[in-house]
Amino acid sequence: MINRYTFFLVALLCLLACQSSTNTTDATNVAPTNAVAVSPKKDPVYTKGLALVGKSDCLTCHKIDDKLIGPSYKDIATKYAGAPNDVITALASSIIKGGSGNWGNVPMTPHPTLSQEEAETMVRYILTLNEK
Ligand code: HEC
Repeated sequence: MINRYTFFLVALLCLLACQSSTNTTDATNVAPTNAVAVSPKKDPVYTKGLALVGKSDCLTCHKIDDKLIGPSYKDIATKYAGAPNDVITALASSIIKGGSGNWGNVPMTPHPTLSQEEAETMVRYILTLNEK
């Protein structure tokens, strides 16, 4: 009687031990996946700016990672990392009016149909690309 009870208890303990050890491995496996899911790319500036850039002709001259006719967006983000508001305002105006001389002799065409606010959102989106 006692033996059977002990056997049962040992079996139960073993089961519990196995279960809790699988739980611990699960928890460590899940943690990094969760960290990736909570991405800074949920930032509304990022999504709004990306949509505006996609609607306009920007990507005919700019790529995110490589230089095309204009500098890559990552290079722009690195050059203006942590730029104050007045620099962002100036970059937005140069998108609207066109610009040249900061990266070479090739000018950027003007985009007169964009509002200052839209252009600033695009600049703020480009600057988020510095974070990788
Ligand atoms: C016709 C090609 C072309 C198009 C279209 C274009 N760009 Fe450019 N862009 C350039 C070139 C060339 C430069 C570098 C100008 C310079 O040397 O100052 C540039 C520079 C920039 C800069 C950096 C400006 C500075 O003063 O450092 C930003 C920001 C930018 N572009 C954003 C945009 C956005 C946003 C759009 C879409 C609305 C866009 N570009 C469309 C060619 C283009």
